[in-house]
Amino acid sequence: MNQHATFDTWTAAAAYDAYMGRWSRLIAQSFVDWLDVPVGAHWLEVGCGTGALTQEVVSRCAPASLMAVDPMAEFVACASTRIPDSCAEFRVAAAPDLPVQTGTADVATAGLVLNDVADPVAALKAMARAVRPGGTVSFYVWDYAGGGMGMIDAFWSTASLLDPAADILDEAVRYGQCSQSGLLRLCAQAGLEAEATAIETTTEFSDFNDFWAGFRHGDGAAPGYCDSLTRDQRMALKTRLETEVGEHGAVRLPARAWALKAQVAA
Ligand SMILES: C[S@@+](CC[C@H](N)C(=O)[O-])C[C@H]1O[C@@H](n2cnc3c(N)ncnc32)[C@H](O)[C@@H]1O
Repeated sequence: MNQHATFDTWTAAAAYDAYMGRWSRLIAQSFVDWLDVPVGAHWLEVGCGTGALTQEVVSRCAPASLMAVDPMAEFVACASTRIPDSCAEFRVAAAPDLPVQTGTADVATAGLVLNDVADPVAALKAMARAVRPGGTVSFYVWDYAGGGMGMIDAFWSTASLLDPAADILDEAVRYGQCSQSGLLRLCAQAGLEAEATAIETTTEFSDFNDFWAGFRHGDGAAPGYCDSLTRDQRMALKTRLETEVGEHGAVRLPARAWALKAQVAA
């Protein structure tokens, strides 16, 4: 899904949390409830980042074991410090090369990851390989294609008004498969018959500066683009965005993720 990857590296844990982790956490709560996995299961999490989904799995599902992997060593260190639970093990690793034996997990999951990986079908196949027959492969991503992540959609719509070159970076374009039908198709390509549901929340910022701060200090495509602008270009973008999302008081924008789950064939 990531053929126009630019500014996509996720590195700084604190910046990631302020920009994205706090919203992923909100989705993770509903996602884990929707998965409805019995306590005592063996979990594999791909792309754990700073542990937004990991924390929900540990506290809501009481897993027997949880292997959480991410290619970014700083994220893995952050997540393992935050979640010292003895059931959880953290490793630096990336899909599709997952450090788990075939058919040993009850559930494989991933939050906000599959749009980021070079070959999402290979990643899904690797997750399915790790899961026992009858177990579950699951994930969620923002509804990028439908403009469902309001904060990011507002950013790129405004950036494109001022800079036509921003068009190609727009996550709605680059992650066009992140629609309900696109994601179901992706699962089918990986041999998984999935069901999908929308999970909705609200990203709420105390004021415009709180909203803007994520783009200035955050990590990922939009903050990276913002950082690449000259000071004058950035100020123009900030002023225009302020007009678009609201100059006074709290900024509230809708956020929708698609959640998918599929049972691995027996
Ligand atoms: C947007 S962050 C999501 C982090 C966390 N799951 C959350 O919900 O906050 C995307 C994560 O995917 C990781 N990632 C990127 N490519 C990956 C791959 N091939 N396998 C596993 N993780 C990957 C990144 O390092 C990053 O931590």
